[in-house]
Amino acid sequence: MSLDAVAFRKTLGCFASGVTIVTALADDGSPVGVTISAFCSLSLDPPLVLFCLNRNSSHRAALTHGNVCISILSEEQASLSSRFASKSEDRFAGLDLDPTPQGIPAPAGGLARLDCRVVSVAEGGDHDIVICAVEAATHADEKRPLVHCQGAYHGVHPLG
Ligand SMILES: Cc1cc2nc3c(=O)[nH]c(=O)nc-3n(C[C@H](O)[C@H](O)[C@H](O)COP(=O)(O)O)c2cc1C
Repeated sequence: MSLDAVAFRKTLGCFASGVTIVTALADDGSPVGVTISAFCSLSLDPPLVLFCLNRNSSHRAALTHGNVCISILSEEQASLSSRFASKSEDRFAGLDLDPTPQGIPAPAGGLARLDCRVVSVAEGGDHDIVICAVEAATHADEKRPLVHCQGAYHGVHPLG
């Protein structure tokens, strides 16, 4: 029996996830970035994380080698998530940036940030699984994460 594509997407959408923006520099030096929720921790020692990028992404070349920055968005940053998923908007126009020491542009003011180097890329169907070594990690304790599930953005609140 073949899987119904809409049902599959909706089922996966029940898994609540944080939202990141993965940024890098293209070969011509221009900044690139994509909204990614398929992000997870992989290893503590050595420190590794991974994200999954659609193989049709226009920024596949820049985001699958060299230095990348993974910004974990706070609940105030839903509009940034939409901007970095949009084909029509200039994603970096007027954006307040806080570049990494390697010169990778990253949005300022997020919940947390991982300065990374891509160490390997595996094929995962129509996505690339991009494994990154983490070279620096920072976070802001006072902020709360942006969450995406069931097709909408949410904040988190403690239970009990
Ligand atoms: C909340 C959210 C989560 C997303 N997660 C992913 C993801 O994990 N991997 C991915 O390749 N695209 C993801 N996307 C879609 C990309 O952001 C979007 O298709 C991409 O920015 C298209 O532009 P590009 O061709 O410049 O990559 C997500 C979009 C949104 C709004």
